[in-house]
Amino acid sequence: MQNHATTHITPTQKSSRNIQQMPHTAAARNSLAPYQEQLHRESLQDPIGFWARAADEITWHNKWFPTGELNTCFNALDRHVLAGNGSRSAIIYDSPVTNRKERISYEQLLHKVATFAAVLQDHGVKKGDTVIVYMPMVPEALVAMLACARLGAIHSVVFGGFAPKELAKRIDDCKPNIILTATCGIEPNKIIKYKPMLQAAIDLCKHKPKTRIILQRAQAPESINAAAGELDWHAQVAAAESRGAKADCTIVSALDPLYLLYTSGSTGVPKGVIRDNGGHAVAINWTMKHIVGLNAGDVFFSASDVGWVVGHSFIVYGPLIRGCTTVVYEGKPVGTPDAGAFWRVVEEYGAKSLFTAPTAIRAIKREDPTGKLIKKYDISSLKNLFLVGERSDPDTVATYQRMLNIPIRDNWWQTETGWPMTVACEMTSPDLSSTTKIGAAGPPIPGYDVRVLVSAGGVVREDDDHHTEYVEAKPGQLGTLAVKLPLPPGTFPTLWKNHNGYVKSYFKKFPGYYDTADAGLIDEDGYVSIMSRTDDIINTAGHRLSTGAMEEIVAGHKDVAECAVIGAQDALKGEKPLGFIVLKNGTTSTHAAILSDLTRAIRSQIGAIACFDKCFIVQRLPKTRSGKVLRRTLRAIANGQKYEVPATIEDEAVLKEIEALFKVDDKVKAKL
Ligand code: COA
Ligand code: AMP
Repeated sequence: MQNHATTHITPTQKSSRNIQQMPHTAAARNSLAPYQEQLHRESLQDPIGFWARAADEITWHNKWFPTGELNTCFNALDRHVLAGNGSRSAIIYDSPVTNRKERISYEQLLHKVATFAAVLQDHGVKKGDTVIVYMPMVPEALVAMLACARLGAIHSVVFGGFAPKELAKRIDDCKPNIILTATCGIEPNKIIKYKPMLQAAIDLCKHKPKTRIILQRAQAPESINAAAGELDWHAQVAAAESRGAKADCTIVSALDPLYLLYTSGSTGVPKGVIRDNGGHAVAINWTMKHIVGLNAGDVFFSASDVGWVVGHSFIVYGPLIRGCTTVVYEGKPVGTPDAGAFWRVVEEYGAKSLFTAPTAIRAIKREDPTGKLIKKYDISSLKNLFLVGERSDPDTVATYQRMLNIPIRDNWWQTETGWPMTVACEMTSPDLSSTTKIGAAGPPIPGYDVRVLVSAGGVVREDDDHHTEYVEAKPGQLGTLAVKLPLPPGTFPTLWKNHNGYVKSYFKKFPGYYDTADAGLIDEDGYVSIMSRTDDIINTAGHRLSTGAMEEIVAGHKDVAECAVIGAQDALKGEKPLGFIVLKNGTTSTHAAILSDLTRAIRSQIGAIACFDKCFIVQRLPKTRSGKVLRRTLRAIANGQKYEVPATIEDEAVLKEIEALFKVDDKVKAKL
């Protein structure tokens, strides 16, 4: 812990000179979450004692503090089998897109993982090596991740919806020798072939991985080209099985990386967030117990994707370390076949808890507004619904709280933290559970000393620079959400081969705090509401995307002189990208032609998940006198929000021109 905490504190701990602190008043308030509040207080007063107690539930090769050693895969699989629970279901695979259902026990999963780890070993994978996993939602994706963990290798899962260029950036950054993939992913209306995308990515890369192990899927059988370093997954496993090859767990230090997960930074360059083994195991087990309220044997349905942090924490490591049964669902909230799919899964497997993105619930609400399909199923096993990834709109939360008659627990976190920073915790018994509040993502979780920072002058304007003095906000005042250091176990100790970027991006602006880059407020009860990002990141259908990366592509269009891309509110997906484009003089292309080019370019370079389908052509962009585009002001106008006119704006009249676009657009919309 000491080592771990030091890693977190080092960048800035001594220099909290700029920030005037409010007394930490949490202890006096908050009767909505008394037990959580007590734990939170203990965790801040005695972090080492608090997390040492939590660490008792993890199996250590050498006890944690100061130099713990363990294996995460051992904690997720072997120890449950050794304790006599091998016949318990570890995975329930439910795939409406392939009409397959399958149960895999802990014993069977351990066999698959140990065998596949032996295959990886045969191909030279060892402790500290990176391995990219580019796979759909199939059990083999979990086998791949756990096999890496077993060997102490560092997996980096790349979401299957990313286009080759995004995959290429990640391959070039973490330089794996081996990539694990499948022949395809399956979307409701099409097969997404992975092999050509992987090839296109490798063609773009400077680093050329030697080996690709490819899982053949019946929906897209492909020839395997051994000369190009391609190997057939099933054949490799069969060969290892025939000689009884199984890999043992490699013991690693608590501080060794378990995985590397890229996330969008505000520029087009993804950030390689590192998760360590020890802190993560302790934090994620604590989370499953106290936040989600699950015990060994309970069924957990997390409808996300292994490509996101939610998938890492709540499809793979959280449930398995805790000894639960995890549902691996290869389908959508709607259309596979209908908006009752989630409730069908809950009934069929007796899921006790459901984790998903607000956008999924909004999609279900749109198709089944009165909850008819909920009534079709017996969902009495379901004790709570957790929503994460973007802001939960109060209407959806209120509607579903009523229709499901269970607490809806909005929780706020990031790839960087790996587990929730705020949520009203379920806890292990109803009398300890925290009360939810519609519109808020709950109070802070033990370990996270969440504060709101505002500029000393009051409002934080877009043209504020880094010399601004910050103070802590009053209850209810909107500002930047920051976490007072140190960060708790499991949160990212650094970025992959970019420690300077880590310090600069997250710890520089507010010395002594971790800058979450989210804006929000803390109310009188200590409940935190998250309103928006403070940087150029948007959340489209729960997918974190960089508008900077989209701007690069838009700016590359032959007719575009300059551009800005911002996040505009969207009733289904939360936010969608919206472009503002200034054309080069003499351009004759039509708006429709340019938009169609841009949509295609963004789909092929970032992925279809970016959903770029709207742009305005403007005469000029709002800028500061020093030439900085005022994107936050554009965003406020697009979303009909109030905004402060930046003092350094070059020409205020441009804001009226932008406002006019939306008035026209409304009139057009009204006619449709
Ligand atoms: N691989 C390849 N393509 C993918 C993909 C994947 N894993 N996931 C999505 N896409 C594609 C879709 O096929 C679609 O392509 P199209 O425009 O050619 O049809 C595009 O990306 C947009 O997809 P999506 O965002 O899924 O939009 P949708 O309108 O098809 O569905 C929802 C709307 C709400 C049902 C869907 O967005 C959803 O399930 N959201 C939940 C997201 C989630 O769980 N996020 C995890 C955060 S915890
Ligand atoms: P990711 O790293 O992909 O998980 O995205 C993290 C970002 O998603 C956060 O910084 C927030 O902007 C947003 N986010 C996550 N959870 C919530 C939530 N409960 N409410 C509002 N925004 C959220």
